[in-house]
Amino acid sequence: MSSSLPEPEGRRRGLFRTKTVEESIRDTEEPEHALRKSLSALDLTVFGVGVIIGTGIFVLTGKIAKESAGPAVALSFVVAGVVCALAALCYAEFASTVPVAGSAYTFSYASLGEFPAWIIGWDLVLELALACAVVSVGWSGYIRSLLDSAGLHLPQSLSGTHEGNFGFDLLACILVLVLTAVLVAGMKLSSRVTAVVVGIKVTVVLLVIIVGAFFIHGANYQPFVPEPVTGSGGSGWQAPLVQSLFGFTPASFGVMGIFAAAAVVFFAFIGFDIVATAAEEARNPQRDVPRGILGSLLICTILYVAVSIVVTGMRKYSKLSTDAPLADAFKDLGHPFWAGLISFGAAVGLTSVCMILLLGQSRVFFAMSRDGLLPRVFSTVHPRFGTPYRSTIVLGVVVAVVAGFTSIDVLAELVNIGTLFAFVVVALGVVILRRTRPDLTRSFRTPLVPLVPALSVLASVWLMINLTAETWLRFAVWMAIGLVLYFVYGRSHSRMGHRDR
Ligand code: ALA
Repeated sequence: MSSSLPEPEGRRRGLFRTKTVEESIRDTEEPEHALRKSLSALDLTVFGVGVIIGTGIFVLTGKIAKESAGPAVALSFVVAGVVCALAALCYAEFASTVPVAGSAYTFSYASLGEFPAWIIGWDLVLELALACAVVSVGWSGYIRSLLDSAGLHLPQSLSGTHEGNFGFDLLACILVLVLTAVLVAGMKLSSRVTAVVVGIKVTVVLLVIIVGAFFIHGANYQPFVPEPVTGSGGSGWQAPLVQSLFGFTPASFGVMGIFAAAAVVFFAFIGFDIVATAAEEARNPQRDVPRGILGSLLICTILYVAVSIVVTGMRKYSKLSTDAPLADAFKDLGHPFWAGLISFGAAVGLTSVCMILLLGQSRVFFAMSRDGLLPRVFSTVHPRFGTPYRSTIVLGVVVAVVAGFTSIDVLAELVNIGTLFAFVVVALGVVILRRTRPDLTRSFRTPLVPLVPALSVLASVWLMINLTAETWLRFAVWMAIGLVLYFVYGRSHSRMGHRDR
């Protein structure tokens, strides 16, 4: 990696040409391509919490406790939370140094170079767009369950794919299209809607913790870390890569089960980095973005640990439901009122998750298009709404179609590996930018560099290898497609490339 000064005269060229921080910020000031700066620290934290709490805690907790960690799923949340906290310390420095739209993509462009930036942008599609599709499918499940309680039943052909029976997920598709329209209409409107939705979601999570605490039976915590069960963890492609690599007999539960579970419940934390994607729209990004990222992450970690302790205390882990575990724990104990309320809150909450994931994705797409790596027509901002309407609409339609045809399980792991990969790149970027641009103002500095970024890389890689070999294969295919696109289109259309000539 070059340590030459990336000033315009001495800037690197070719695959590793960097876009200087000054250039990134200047691009955001072109009136045609400028986003409105209207978000405060509180708005950003609300955004963070709005996107973080979702399918992970509402759906995956029960499945993971039941299948791979038992009550120790609470520890899995702690492990995943620590990995995210390390990454958050790196994201916060980058976001406060390069306060422009695009998250890890922009940061990489300023530090690692264009090719790594493309890789990361492409990788973020995996994280944000697919996660949005996954969450919208989860949302649709909750809505169908509420409709069923009210005696209204959608035909199977419009209820998504279940156990091999294909069905188009109409509700998920409609949700994504409606949210796309909201986002096109403007940031201010969407952040106000988000604030109300986040309020409902957090209230419901607190209800689960407070009301559920009265139904805890100590015996349900025995054993807290269940004995490893050999063979049930899948084998070959379905086993966590680390178990195959180091020749362990693939197993669920036990200590390895806690880590395998952490690699999956990690999904519950995805989103804190999206606060950084909104940096360009913050009023005071230098101060507010780090606060938004770390604040929302801390709040969510505390809530997740509390929820998982309460739920595994209410019901034996082996009896938890895998579709709506929080609501069903109350239903099973004979409290349908609380169950209904929780289902309603979960459905509302998942709406905001979907919306912010879509927003984050459209901003990354916008930034890549503004740089010429994707067609420039996608980065024109709407004259009245001040939003990147073309990229939002294109992505909204694509995600709506994917949501209509997709089932949750496999995609969640794919989302995780993509996100963890982005964490690795960002952590490396912090160290590189410190060396190449020590002069930049950093209102938030990652502590103990390079120790914390190094730990962040190790922790992220550790979770990655706790994902299945099959997930690694899918990830490799996705990234290979990205490579082809870059060499066929991005490389020759890059604005930085043109400035180089
Ligand atoms: N963290 C988000 C969720 O749990 C993506 O749904």
